[in-house]
Amino acid sequence: MLALAPMAGYSTAPFRRICYDEGADFAYTEMVSADGLIRGGEKTFEYMRMMEGERFTGVQLFGSDPAVMAEAARIAAQNGAAFIDMNFGCPVKKVIRRNGGASLMRDLDLMGRIAAAVVETVEIPVTAKIRSGWTAKDENYVEAGLVLEGAGVDAVVIHPRYRTQGFSGRSNWEHIARLREALTIEVIGNGDVTDVEDFIELRRVTGCRIVMIGRGALGRPWLFRRIKDSLAIEAGVDVGPEVVVEGGIGETVSIADFMLRHFELTVSWDGERRAVSEMRKQFKWYLRGVPGAKEYRLKLMSAADADMVRSILRSLKEELVKRWRKLA
Ligand SMILES: Cc1cc2nc3c(=O)[nH]c(=O)nc-3n(C[C@H](O)[C@H](O)[C@H](O)COP(=O)(O)O)c2cc1C
Repeated sequence: MLALAPMAGYSTAPFRRICYDEGADFAYTEMVSADGLIRGGEKTFEYMRMMEGERFTGVQLFGSDPAVMAEAARIAAQNGAAFIDMNFGCPVKKVIRRNGGASLMRDLDLMGRIAAAVVETVEIPVTAKIRSGWTAKDENYVEAGLVLEGAGVDAVVIHPRYRTQGFSGRSNWEHIARLREALTIEVIGNGDVTDVEDFIELRRVTGCRIVMIGRGALGRPWLFRRIKDSLAIEAGVDVGPEVVVEGGIGETVSIADFMLRHFELTVSWDGERRAVSEMRKQFKWYLRGVPGAKEYRLKLMSAADADMVRSILRSLKEELVKRWRKLA
């Protein structure tokens, strides 16, 4: 099974929907503040809105007070969450300052009390997302996993980097393997899966049945389909001709179609004005590594309205097709 990771600013309903269409089995919202939720903040509720066609989307909560987290989980469950995930891995200062996210890796007692309170409050599944520890010196993911299992959570996701690493270096998949050995509940492996080969290698090293993908899906949502196709081929199923040509100019051409689809879904979700600015950061990921894309990136970053975005994307597609014909 494949999951789309929670990514603040990116795991929006339109992007989740595209990833579901491309084969993701479940997904997470962007992280939602438990405090904000119980205060009834409109913006906070916005993060929990689900789009038609979402298969199984969990709401990810961050916070440090067991009672607040439990109440927020109850509200999320009432508002359509398929499951609750607790964020014990976020390294961002704004979250750490309020003792949320990865700072709970330094207080496993409190982490356990939060998890127990949430598990007790909701009937839907509860998962937790952790890192390898605060620093290499105080690596404690196995202890954290055991605390969470003891509290009754259904699965643990590990992004095997230390908080102090942020996103630098490579994630250490051995930690995922070790956590799987130590726990009886499901362990979801995460970190640096950007192509089919990474997925196969992570599965080989860890034995995970569920893998979570974050950055690898940004601007490349068809990665889910690629992996699903490779699994089907492994099982002897004929998956037909590949829709997207691996890494080649065929992939580049279909990027313009994905960008337009993502944009139109965002328009239908947020309205034209918001879609134009919201999509800028997503467009950057789609255009990463596309030859000659600089001019289009600049135009998209300054496009004033939705029709302008559409026309830029149309000419991007024409240009890519032209180039593809020349090469073919
Ligand atoms: C832009 C961005 C935003 C993220 N936001 C969250 C978040 O809200 N909650 C969370 O638990 N992890 C968050 N993460 C971490 C990812 O969920 C994931 O654990 C991490 O990126 C490693 O996986 P990857 O190598 O597949 O990207 C974020 C990562 C990125 C790049």
